[in-house]
Amino acid sequence: MANTSLDAFKENQEVVTVDASKKIRVGIIGTGWIAASHIEAYKRQPDVEIVAGADLIPGKAAKFFADHGVEGVKCDYKDGEEMVNDKSLKLDAVSICTYNRQHAPCAIQALNAGVHVLLEKPFTVTTEEAVEVMKAEKKSGKVLSIGFQPRLDDNMKMVKEVVESGVLGKIYYIQTGGGRRRGIPTPFGTTFIEDETAGLGALADIGCYSLDMVLNAIGYPKPLTVSGYKSDFFGTDPDYIGYKKCGHPEYYKKFGVDDFAAAFVRLEGGIILDFRIAWAMNLDTSGDTIIYGTKGSLRIPSTECWNGTIGGDLVIYHEVAGKQVETKIPQIFPKPGTPSCFEKKIRTFVDACKNGTAAPVPSSQILYNQAILDGIAKSSDLGKEIEITIPEI
Ligand SMILES: NC(=O)c1ccc[n+]([C@@H]2O[C@H](COP(=O)([O-])OP(=O)(O)OC[C@H]3O[C@@H](n4cnc5c(N)ncnc54)[C@H](O)[C@@H]3O)[C@@H](O)[C@H]2O)c1
Repeated sequence: MANTSLDAFKENQEVVTVDASKKIRVGIIGTGWIAASHIEAYKRQPDVEIVAGADLIPGKAAKFFADHGVEGVKCDYKDGEEMVNDKSLKLDAVSICTYNRQHAPCAIQALNAGVHVLLEKPFTVTTEEAVEVMKAEKKSGKVLSIGFQPRLDDNMKMVKEVVESGVLGKIYYIQTGGGRRRGIPTPFGTTFIEDETAGLGALADIGCYSLDMVLNAIGYPKPLTVSGYKSDFFGTDPDYIGYKKCGHPEYYKKFGVDDFAAAFVRLEGGIILDFRIAWAMNLDTSGDTIIYGTKGSLRIPSTECWNGTIGGDLVIYHEVAGKQVETKIPQIFPKPGTPSCFEKKIRTFVDACKNGTAAPVPSSQILYNQAILDGIAKSSDLGKEIEITIPEI
């Protein structure tokens, strides 16, 4: 017999109820590598019908849906624009899984067609593009959410909760970033490393996660100025080990983005952000993330191959009764059988579309993330500090 008095105290037994009688019709634009995670997560949602897909490469979308065992999907489109304008589909929402340079055009086309959008990270390549997407979002009244699944990780939520608890006092300085000793993402082709498809390299791929980890925790203050630097020493090196390992020694000729970047950013509220990111470097990690506060500082351990997850227990350095003490918050590992962050990203997006609620990862926040990435690139090109200006939307 159930012990009801104890059951009342059981925690972490989240029960998610989904109204499967009300389904939404979803399409996928760009059926490359990350689209696989989207379709697998959509397949697990009882209230989602996957009805369409598009890719620029003829036949790629059809093969993608066949590989994932999803039948009856319309995918004979030349591109995403043709798909979102096919009114016979009665599309409710799309996942945009194209390479970075195609984020803004595809998002604008979908929003203009009256379709909710889950846009993969990074938001866009430039701040100007992000502003144009947000204008289309405003005009459409549709949901636009940006694909930052790491913030749905329980450890990231804990970082935010620690900051919001006030235990750190006033936050005045943050160092963040991440790195990989050798980790330029080329095993799946060149869309991450060519300027015409990616636009930005390590900055957009993993730098956006490091920024989101801390900016989301502190409430996304506006960035004011940035002094940025970027380089490409590893990506353009004919002897870079990764190219040989993936069987494409010629990829160094295609490399047109950053593989390392660093910046000094001033944020509203007198907070300094010290940032670095590396796809490749001669070092194990580029350092832990640390949020410095007047009452305490929080250390978030880095990982040896940064992709937006934390590498160990959180530690708060503070003072209690005149003693300098350290409080450890153990790293949280997901319970077997619980939804991954990726699945939560899809679920929260579907819920927002169905219920007309706010985007889980709103463009208004990620605009500031994008403005920093773009500011670093522009400041580096100019060789001096620049002011970050964000037009009205
Ligand atoms: N959230 C995550 O964990 C995560 C992980 C990996 C990649 N990503 C992001 O996902 C995006 C895609 O990465 P990927 O590795 O899947 O790239 P990919 O090159 O494997 O796939 C992109 C696909 O989009 C197609 N495409 C481009 N423009 C199109 C258009 N207008 N209409 C239809 N199809 C179009 C391309 O032909 C290609 O097949 C990138 O922006 C990347 O940053 C996110």
